[in-house]
Amino acid sequence: MNYSEYLHIPALLDLQHPRSDPVEHDELLFIIIHQTYELWFKLLLHELEKIGRDFSGNDLYGAIATWHRGRTILKTLVGQLDILETMTPMSFASFRDRLDTSSGFQSYQFREIEFLLGYKRPQAVGFFKPGDPGYEAVRRRLREPSISDHFYRFLAQQGATIPAELLSRDPSLPAIADERVQAALLHLYKTRPDLAILFERMMDFDEGHQEWRYRHVKIVERTIGAKRGTGGSPGVEFLKNSLFQPVFPDLWAIRHQL
Ligand code: HEM
Repeated sequence: MNYSEYLHIPALLDLQHPRSDPVEHDELLFIIIHQTYELWFKLLLHELEKIGRDFSGNDLYGAIATWHRGRTILKTLVGQLDILETMTPMSFASFRDRLDTSSGFQSYQFREIEFLLGYKRPQAVGFFKPGDPGYEAVRRRLREPSISDHFYRFLAQQGATIPAELLSRDPSLPAIADERVQAALLHLYKTRPDLAILFERMMDFDEGHQEWRYRHVKIVERTIGAKRGTGGSPGVEFLKNSLFQPVFPDLWAIRHQL
C-alpha cells in the first residue's frame, strides 16, 4: 500500500472535467471548490451523526469535542470562499452557461446537513426527482429525528424538564423555539458549567453556519448581481431569506438573561 493507492489519488484527480471549449481558465477553480465543499459536507454529516449518538448516549464530552470540530470545518468552508472570490464576474460569465441548470439547490449533502440539524424545509425535497442522486437520502433525513431532537433527549437525561410533547414530536417538522426549553437552558447555563461549555460550542457552530450563508449571499451578489440563479430562483433576493436563521433558536433567545 502506498499514498496514491490508500487515497485513490489517480481516481480523485480524474474527476475534474471543465466543460468550456475553448477552456476558460477559472472553470477548474470553480469545479475544485465545489468538489472540496462536498467532501467537507461528507465529513460534517459523519460528525453530526456522531453528535446525535453522543446526545442519545448522554456523552457530554464527546459532543463538546465534535461540535468543536464541526465549527472548525465551517470556518474552513467560509475561508474557501476567499479563493473563489478571486474569480471576477467577467470570468464566471465566460463559462456560466456551461453549468446549464446545475445549482447549489441540488447539493443533497447540503440539504441533508440542514435536515440533520433540524432546519427542515419540506419544500426543498422538491429539488430532487426520483432517480436523482440524493433523492432517497434527503427524504430519509427529513423523516429522521434531527440533532435538535437528540438534544432534547440529552437535556432530559441531564435532569432538565423537557415537555413530553417535544420528546415525542413529529421529527419531520422544523425545530422551533420553545419558552419551556429556554427556561431549562437558562437554569443549566447558570448551574452547570460543564453544560454551559457544550452550549457555547453549539452557538459557535450555529454562528458559523449563519456566517456561511452570509458569505455565500455576498459572493453571489458580487459575482452575478441581480441575475437569476441557474436553479431558477431569483438569486440573491431569494438567498437573503435564510440569513440570520438560527439552528438552535432557544440558545439565541436567552442571551439577554445570561
Ligand atoms: C460564484 C459563486 C457562486 C454563485 C454565483 C452561486 C449562486 C447561487 C445561487 C444564485 C443560488 C440560488 C439557487 C439557484 O437559483 O440556483 C445558490 C444556491 C446555493 N449554492 Fe451557490 N453560488 C456560488 C458558490 C457556491 C459554493 C462555493 C457553494 C458550495 C457548495 C454553493 C452552494 C450552494 C447551495 C448549497 C445553495 C442552496 C442554498 C439554499 O437552498 O439555502 N454555492 N447559489
